[in-house]
Amino acid sequence: MGYLCFPKYRLRRIMGWLQIILGGLVIIVSISSLFRFYSAGFFFQNDDMCRQFYGSKVVDEGIDVVSLTSRFEEVLNKMESLQDKLESTVQQMEKNKEEELHKTNISRLEYKKFLEDEVIRPLYDAHIALRQIRLPKIEEIKNGMLKEDPLINNFVVEEIRKYITPKENRVGKINIYGTEKVYNTIGHACVVMKKELEEYMDYDVGSYCKDDWHLGQKLLINGCDPLPRRRCLTRASRLYLRPYPINESLWRMPEGRNVRWSNYQCRNFECLSSKNPRRGYSKCTGCFEMEKEKLKWITNATLPIDFLMKDVLGIKQGEIRIGLDFGVGTGTFAARMREQNVTIVSTALNLGAPFSEMIALRGLIPLYVTLNQRLPFFDNTMDLIHTTGFMDGWIDLMLLDFILFDWDRVLRPGGLLWIDRFFCKRKDLDDYMYMFLQFRYKKHKWAIAPKSTDEVFLSALLEKPPRTL
Ligand SMILES: *[C@@H]1O[C@H](CO)[C@@H](O)[C@H](O)[C@H]1NC(C)=O
Ligand SMILES: *[C@@H]1O[C@H](CO)[C@@H](O)[C@H](O)[C@H]1NC(C)=O
Ligand SMILES: *[C@@H]1O[C@H](CO)[C@@H](O)[C@H](O)[C@H]1NC(C)=O
Ligand SMILES: *[C@@H]1O[C@H](CO)[C@@H](O)[C@H](O)[C@H]1NC(C)=O
Repeated sequence: MGYLCFPKYRLRRIMGWLQIILGGLVIIVSISSLFRFYSAGFFFQNDDMCRQFYGSKVVDEGIDVVSLTSRFEEVLNKMESLQDKLESTVQQMEKNKEEELHKTNISRLEYKKFLEDEVIRPLYDAHIALRQIRLPKIEEIKNGMLKEDPLINNFVVEEIRKYITPKENRVGKINIYGTEKVYNTIGHACVVMKKELEEYMDYDVGSYCKDDWHLGQKLLINGCDPLPRRRCLTRASRLYLRPYPINESLWRMPEGRNVRWSNYQCRNFECLSSKNPRRGYSKCTGCFEMEKEKLKWITNATLPIDFLMKDVLGIKQGEIRIGLDFGVGTGTFAARMREQNVTIVSTALNLGAPFSEMIALRGLIPLYVTLNQRLPFFDNTMDLIHTTGFMDGWIDLMLLDFILFDWDRVLRPGGLLWIDRFFCKRKDLDDYMYMFLQFRYKKHKWAIAPKSTDEVFLSALLEKPPRTL
């Protein structure tokens, strides 16, 4: 470390500060380890102890909550002033950089970097950590029963418990939603994948996340959705270049360096070509080839099940402005629609290839969602829902029912549902057709074509009727 060769007075000052800081950190560590256990309700099972603890201000175990709280204040104030002092010193040094450069041998920049990395950052982290420690509270319902927060006792990892614990508004106020606290939510299937979730949640708050988004996606797909990881810094491509302007980005293959490839089988966009058997994904295989993508929805169709975009928009001239494309793809539908001044949000999961990144780099909106959840749109808002490449004969009828009712909810009266190349076994067609027709939408287009000897394609363009009740 460069600071060892500082002039003596500087060294002494630094050592002095370090001692204060280390002292502060020791206090923090000891206090926080005391509080860890009940900061997220660790003892909720033990009713007696909880009642004693929360019922009176002084606990029989000898912990005086009032004086502990004031210690917290004291340490917080100390750390805050320390941090100010250090930061102003760094600023001062920045100013004096020029004149002092030749007086000493170690570079000022090294010194500054040392202070920033080794002193200010850890200090700030500790500061934040201390501010976030809250004395635990527990709600006592009228009949004296303690109300336990859902799922909390399924997990022992502190970060999961902190996430699940409802965050009460400060000073007992009602917040903008009109509620007293905010719940961070997880999917109930997280309980089933406890081991994976705990691995995923094993991180240091404030530091870089592990490069494991694929583990997160595995959890999501299997129903641990939404994910509770929020407090580490996500990794980005080291060489991120600015994206192409929108007049170029829609139809140009993006810059490969803007993607982190480490969790994909491919290492660049060229490798994702459908001709490469080792491309690492199987759905939407030609999607990363722009020459193929450019033909979709605008050139004369070879099959009656392929509707042209201009025909579909023509049905509702000027009325289609916003919509959702639920499928697997690289955003080509949204790109074509954008040229028609229609804004489309495209769902995307990164199933073996960087679908989300590609859509975003084209200047379109990827929505990273699974089928697990109700769509994050309000009732009667969308002009269009288009679906292709995603739903086919694998889908359970009950699941399809949940999906279709949700789409119906989101579509506005007069909105269009475009089912594009749905396919299934010939013998299952009646079942699926019933599902699509159950809402009594107006049929604008309806086409069936053979896919293979025992499979068929179905495409439909349906309009949600007004519902006057
Ligand atoms: C600075 O470094 C040079 C060699 O790099 C050395 O000769 C000189 O004595 C050093 N000056 C001080 C003040 O340490
Ligand atoms: C895109 O727009 C910019 C300015 O808005 C222009 O300089 C550039 O030539 C355009 N590119 C193309 C391919 O039209
Ligand atoms: C598409 O078909 C129409 C009529 O069937 C024809 O007039 C038109 O030229 C065709 N366009 C292309 C690009 O093949
Ligand atoms: C889209 O909007 C722009 C600007 O309002 C307009 O110039 C253009 O003609 C529109 N394109 C279509 C296909 O309506």
